[in-house]
Amino acid sequence: MFGPEFERKVDRIVARYPEPKAALLPVLWLVQRTRGFVGLDAEAWVAERLGVGAAHVHGVVSFYTMYRQKQLGRYHIQLCTTLSCMLRGSDDLAAHLEKKLGIRPGETTPDGKFSLAKVECLGSCGTAPMLQLNDDYHENLTIDGLDRLLDGLP
Ligand code: FES
Repeated sequence: MFGPEFERKVDRIVARYPEPKAALLPVLWLVQRTRGFVGLDAEAWVAERLGVGAAHVHGVVSFYTMYRQKQLGRYHIQLCTTLSCMLRGSDDLAAHLEKKLGIRPGETTPDGKFSLAKVECLGSCGTAPMLQLNDDYHENLTIDGLDRLLDGLP
């Protein structure tokens, strides 16, 4: 789907498992790492490659929120809004983010730089409020700290 090197990586992943369908999660992760999201075309390819139904693959992709179903911004902001973060100001951070970026949760800025999501607990309640920016956690956030973080991104 993404060239011979990608296919070799898929082959190596599949070889680690007793049957191809067991490689579903890591192969989907490889797809996402390769192009930034999964998407219906890749789901169909993965389903055929691993010998599972397309509906099953879509069920997995849509169940696990770490799989992206569409292209997101270069910086994907996932703001935790569950109890600990909410009690420590995530609602203010959310409002500030929406105003600063001019987008609502589920949207991407027109320049493709930022996308925003409100998410459930990311397991860092002791350092609330927090967000995940791509793969990294940013904790004990304040509005000033959030501004410094975002304004410092290339
Ligand atoms: S409530 Fe926000 S990380 Fe747990």
